[in-house]
Amino acid sequence: MIIVNEQEKVFHLNNGRISYLFYVMESGQLGHLYFGKALTQKGSYLHMVEKVHRPMTTYITEGDLYTSYEHLRQEYPCYGTSDYRYPAMEIQGGDGSRICKLEYQRYRIINGKKLLPGLPATYVEDESEASTVEIVMRDSKYALEVVFSYSIFRDFDAIARSVQLVNHGKEALLVNRAMSMSIDFPDAAFQSVQLSGAWARERYVHVRDLQPGITAVSSMRGNSSHQHNPFLALKRKNTTEQSGEAYGFSLIYSGNFLAQAEVDNYQVLRVMLGINPFGFQWKLDAAANFTTPEAVMVYSNAGLNGMSQQFHRLYQNRLVRGYWRDRERPVLINNWEATQFDYVEEDLIRFATKAKECDIELFVLDDGWFGARNDDKRGLGDWKANTQKLPNGIEGLSKRIEALGMKFGLWFEPEMVNKDSDFFRMHPDYIIATPERSVSHGRNQFVLDFSRREVVDAIYEQMYTLLSKAKISYIKWDMNRSISECYSKAYHSDQQGEIFHRYILGVYDLHERLIQAFPSLLIESCASGGGRFDAGMLYYAPQGWVSDDSDAIERLKIQYGTSLVYPLSCMGAHVSACPNEQVGRQTPLETRGNVAFTGAFGYELDLNKLSVNEIETVKKQVAFYKENRNFIAKSDFYRLCSPFETNFAAWEAVAPDGKRALVTVTRILSEINGPYRRLPLCGLLPEQQYHIKSQYLSYNAYGDELMQYGMILEDKSSGQIIDGSGGCQDFRSVLYEITAV
Ligand code: GLA
Repeated sequence: MIIVNEQEKVFHLNNGRISYLFYVMESGQLGHLYFGKALTQKGSYLHMVEKVHRPMTTYITEGDLYTSYEHLRQEYPCYGTSDYRYPAMEIQGGDGSRICKLEYQRYRIINGKKLLPGLPATYVEDESEASTVEIVMRDSKYALEVVFSYSIFRDFDAIARSVQLVNHGKEALLVNRAMSMSIDFPDAAFQSVQLSGAWARERYVHVRDLQPGITAVSSMRGNSSHQHNPFLALKRKNTTEQSGEAYGFSLIYSGNFLAQAEVDNYQVLRVMLGINPFGFQWKLDAAANFTTPEAVMVYSNAGLNGMSQQFHRLYQNRLVRGYWRDRERPVLINNWEATQFDYVEEDLIRFATKAKECDIELFVLDDGWFGARNDDKRGLGDWKANTQKLPNGIEGLSKRIEALGMKFGLWFEPEMVNKDSDFFRMHPDYIIATPERSVSHGRNQFVLDFSRREVVDAIYEQMYTLLSKAKISYIKWDMNRSISECYSKAYHSDQQGEIFHRYILGVYDLHERLIQAFPSLLIESCASGGGRFDAGMLYYAPQGWVSDDSDAIERLKIQYGTSLVYPLSCMGAHVSACPNEQVGRQTPLETRGNVAFTGAFGYELDLNKLSVNEIETVKKQVAFYKENRNFIAKSDFYRLCSPFETNFAAWEAVAPDGKRALVTVTRILSEINGPYRRLPLCGLLPEQQYHIKSQYLSYNAYGDELMQYGMILEDKSSGQIIDGSGGCQDFRSVLYEITAV
């Protein structure tokens, strides 16, 4: 999959569907040639290099009026010679200078793909699944070696990149900026797509036309954030969900990031993604090395949906790992929205008993079970049961839950502490705080300094003890505030720019140690809902709580946006009580179920408060999900109708062989006397006859009709979306099962 033209020093990564080409310039820098639909391998590609004389330009060599980095498309640019755009890397030498000149040394091809030390990354199970080329570059003044690593996958239209820096010099260097990837595209006729929002409305889809200058999203909060996701896509103006070119860039990282597109004065577009240079500076001692997180670049000519499917397949199969990757996820019930902090053991047993009656498989005890945790002002850090609430401790409670025939899960917030806790009283110096400055709190809590090994050890010990003694099958790992006053007492003044990154490395380390110690433990990540919902976390936690907003209608947008990058199997989606806790909305139980089915399904309410009829519906939902969860997790996902643009949200999960599909159609507001409506489906076999069945509907049609003409949605007599319920209600949703006859 990697072809090297030794004479021209052109590298061609090609898996038959996508191509990525770069070359070594005469000056020794790496130049970018092409990324997109596969090109057939030819003798030469250097005619693709565009190089013309431009007025008012700075040139690299005296006498040469053509060669300027400002006008050559680069692969991993450095600032300071003749390029005035934002660089991918900036190194500060002992003399204070900030110029770096990377020159090509050699390359190496590796079958398969390497893992990154201490960082999450995509992987292979067999060497034939990917090929990697490592390009070794060198700055001779600093004796700095920089290794660019590119892996192309056989089965996914994706390339993974990372960069490693090794200081072979005698003096320490300061790394002020080291992005994970950069590409100079030959034109800028794109729109950028980002996933942005806030707490309880995470990952809304925002599209903007690129203009000269910078379009960027970033985080400087210490977590990838509710506000912006570490992801950026480029699409052509006429690209739709199902057709046209789309590029996706996703960072496998959970901390501060920057995703940036810069359009220059000649319509060259530079895209880069990596650790946010703001707040970052890494001291690279002599003989030390530094590895950037991995960036994944996807190309699709089947629209945004095609791009998403590549991310889904890659992340689900070769980023998520371990015991739970291919296993069916348990249907869970979580007590948070039902009880908050207010419960005792017997309440929980009643809660779980009713859940067992509905065939729910896992009971998750949320916040409030430990220390003096009766509200959010105290207790974090003391990971021992509150025996006033739980007289038999977690051990006793977990045994009782297992005796009911359910698995037991437990909430932790490992990275945080309340000042009112034994842990803080014992270790007041373990929090992140800047000397002689006040320390801001978030939700009355403070951030433990996970850049320090002894702090991670102290939390690991507590968690390990509990997990080894009690019967805990699952943990919900929460994180409810961002970092402020970032500083670590354990590091020297010239290393304070490392703390944000070292913190995340500490979080990854704790995850890794727990996974090694308890390989079958299922971890769900959470950060006040979706505040750290990123590809980095997926390597450790195969599912994440998508948002604290559990209202089905709000979730349409949140899950729709999330699906741009992340597979269904990782989206924690629960049916919660009505009126909904966050927005006060009343929605049908069927709608809540239908919206949650396309995720890691569960409940977030007290089933004892439901009517007999509602319990029957819950039982049916649980049975339906169990029957279909394997199919849903392994299906190809299609977004059919956007809740951002229409009064409907519709999506489809199709078996990879095209023989079966589930379609969810939710109409947001009721309408009267509306137009006829058809919904063109995707991914079916054109010649195949299918049976279409919803709660009230049953007919046959062929795949080509369903994809080209569309599935008819309206009840012709009333003009309403077909749901057989008399139609005229807000927030109705219908689930259609499409099965090959
Ligand atoms: C966060 C989580 C919720 C719940 C509470 C508990 O807000 O997102 O799901 O666990 O914490 O305090």
